[in-house]
Amino acid sequence: MTDDVRPVRLQTVDDSNVRAVIALSVTEDQEQFVAPNVHSLAEAFATDKVWVRAICAGETPVGFVMLSDDTDKQRYYIWRFMIDAEYQRRGFGRRAMELVHDYIRTRPGGTRAFLSYVPGDGGPEPFYRSLGYTDTGRVHDNEREAAVDL
Ligand SMILES: CC(C)(COP(=O)(O)OP(=O)(O)OC[C@H]1O[C@@H](n2cnc3c(N)ncnc32)[C@H](O)[C@@H]1OP(=O)(O)O)[C@@H](O)C(=O)NCCC(=O)NCCS
Repeated sequence: MTDDVRPVRLQTVDDSNVRAVIALSVTEDQEQFVAPNVHSLAEAFATDKVWVRAICAGETPVGFVMLSDDTDKQRYYIWRFMIDAEYQRRGFGRRAMELVHDYIRTRPGGTRAFLSYVPGDGGPEPFYRSLGYTDTGRVHDNEREAAVDL
């Protein structure tokens, strides 16, 4: 599918969009790869040093990102990332990841981005590879850690 030209922005999750963010979902086959957004928001509520944003195309929430934003350890770990099934394969994921990288570059020591992913057919591995991520060799709870220099 060709890219959708609407501008992609990362917006604060607040009263104006939280219900729309909770309503975003991936396909049934992809549910093994990412937690529901309501689960992630509950974890964010109870966690320090976390940065959450709605991924918006124009004014429409189309995805969600959650980053472990630890300026003490200077380690920036993309903990959750998803684009709603209806909005996938339009270039929104790639552009949102570039904005997440831009944010990390503004943080102290923000020269590297980390994430982990569940390997498997239909999973996000080719997407992360296309953004330059390579495996670090570490594995957490069956998830492979990968990183990219920014
Ligand atoms: C992975 C995901 C975020 C990609 O978002 P997206 O908006 O569809 O991705 P884009 O349209 O920006 O695609 C960017 C690139 O990745 C590739 N890509 C995207 N999804 C892919 C898939 N499932 N398989 C293979 N390649 C894929 C595209 O071909 C594109 O490459 P190109 O620009 O070189 O052609 C989305 O499919 C998703 O939310 N999946 C379910 C949740 C998930 O797995 N999250 C990651 C948790 S670690």
